[in-house]
Amino acid sequence: MVGKIIGTGSYIPEQIWDNEKLSHMVDTNDEWIRERTGIARRHIAGEEETTAYMAAKAAETALQNAGMKAAEVDLIIAATISPGEIMPCTSCEVQKRIGAVNATCFDLNSACTGFLFALNTAQAYLGQEIYHTAVIIGAESLSHLTNWEDRGTCILFGDGAGAVVLKASPEGRYTQVTHSSGEKGSVLTCTSRNQPKYVENSRAPETYMQMDGKEVFKFAVSKVPEVIRELLEKTETDSGKIHRYILHQANERIVKSVAKRLGEEMEKFPVNIADYGNTSSASIPILLDELNRKGDFSQGDLLVLAGFGAGLSYGASLLEW
Ligand code: ACO
Repeated sequence: MVGKIIGTGSYIPEQIWDNEKLSHMVDTNDEWIRERTGIARRHIAGEEETTAYMAAKAAETALQNAGMKAAEVDLIIAATISPGEIMPCTSCEVQKRIGAVNATCFDLNSACTGFLFALNTAQAYLGQEIYHTAVIIGAESLSHLTNWEDRGTCILFGDGAGAVVLKASPEGRYTQVTHSSGEKGSVLTCTSRNQPKYVENSRAPETYMQMDGKEVFKFAVSKVPEVIRELLEKTETDSGKIHRYILHQANERIVKSVAKRLGEEMEKFPVNIADYGNTSSASIPILLDELNRKGDFSQGDLLVLAGFGAGLSYGASLLEW
């Protein structure tokens, strides 16, 4: 059994902060941000738009797209590094909001690789016939973890949520390759605000996302092509047969570099980072939803999804639409 994607959905907060706005907050400018990252604007969640709210909206639209009722869902996994609440978990909040009364729910944290790892986890459950239908969500309120005084990071991130509905099917393909490099974890960090030492000074710099941008960049442009090649070899799939490579949207230059290193045309590597910035675990499902709604996928198309981020962690999955 394989979990086939039968529906996609997303939720994007209404409020937009463009590069011009950021140039009044830190010493930066539109030209620099566009050239170095490909980002033009990002969406910032309003007070009501919590991570769980956005996740539930994305799940609802994905279920509508799939033509499925919430009560038919067996499993909900939400990938997030920015839950509004530590407990209850975001996926239980989603269950309550959408009425998925029969679902088992849990969250998964693997930063920008989170959605991919959640999808892999669901595939394992569906493959074993433990569950038959699943909603997999990536949802982030990164604006709460962003230091809006640090130009090295604040230009990159945005808020949003994306979701897919999976249904177990005897036909189709799904293969994954994943890796983690915990020893490199210090290049991309964010400390919990609940650490006793931060109670007095609740917004110490460590409680915002901090990164060594150059190291993350180097890691991404070397490891992503490597893991994609590993996946293609494992599945004995010719790269020419891949319809689209859906990469985590961290920086347009990373996507271009991966395409070049793989010797592939950029048109196979869709990019939407200009409108959303880096939404961590939400970026892959948001992009999937955009392409699905444009009618970009046909039955039988082979897609490669690739995620990478804090941990460090990275992986790629091959699936048949
Ligand atoms: N505006 C204007 N100038 C800036 C800005 C800014 N926002 N930020 C840095 N600069 C300056 C620097 O001070 C430096 O100036 P100098 O040459 O006078 O010293 C110059 O621009 C170049 O800075 P670099 O840091 O070398 O810029 P780089 O080209 O490496 O781009 C960036 C930085 C965009 C952060 C890049 O390294 C990157 O995208 N890295 C990957 C980030 C990433 O993907 N992170 C998230 C991973 S996903 C997750 O798990 C959350």
